[in-house]
Amino acid sequence: MKNLVVLVSGSGSNLQRILDTIQSGEIKDAQVSLVVADRECYGLERANNAGIEHKLIKRGKDFCNQLEEILPENTDLIVLAGFLSVMTEDFCNHWAGKIVNIHPSLLPKYGGKGMWGMHVHNAVKNAGETTTGATVHFVTPGVDEGEVILQQETAIHADDTPEAIAEKVHQIEYQIFPKAIQKVLEKI
Ligand code: GRF
Repeated sequence: MKNLVVLVSGSGSNLQRILDTIQSGEIKDAQVSLVVADRECYGLERANNAGIEHKLIKRGKDFCNQLEEILPENTDLIVLAGFLSVMTEDFCNHWAGKIVNIHPSLLPKYGGKGMWGMHVHNAVKNAGETTTGATVHFVTPGVDEGEVILQQETAIHADDTPEAIAEKVHQIEYQIFPKAIQKVLEKI
């Protein structure tokens, strides 16, 4: 049984998708042993509703140290599922190959510091892109620069608003995140 720790900052719909696909068997032989948030958010409530241990560690310089202290010893994979704090270099190096993130664009496009949430979709819209998508990648010290595990694109229509683009990208995320997690777990 593989143990996942999921980090969230927002609504946690990707966390929910992970829980559902563990249940359905798309992600095999795994469990979420802990959910950690860096701010109050609905993701924590989802963990609570699912009966999963959950903790809030306030965002800030000490986040990674505090996280390291509470990570279960048997943690196999750390999953950033809509998580907004940037992990320290030490933490990334310690967990190299065992920490993944989902990003709402076709990296390396629209990645890096400041590129999160609607900032990404607004930038994509303003640039007149005809496609966007989502990427699951390994987390390394360079923000959004780690090796891509899975990426999938979706078409943008001229009349799509940034909100419509966000919704399309979320749907792509729900498809590729479980697949990417399963792919990584098979190699751990
Ligand atoms: C996702 O679009 C993710 O790519 C981004 O934040 C969003 C999180 O959504 N980093 P949710 O909290 O999983 O609903």
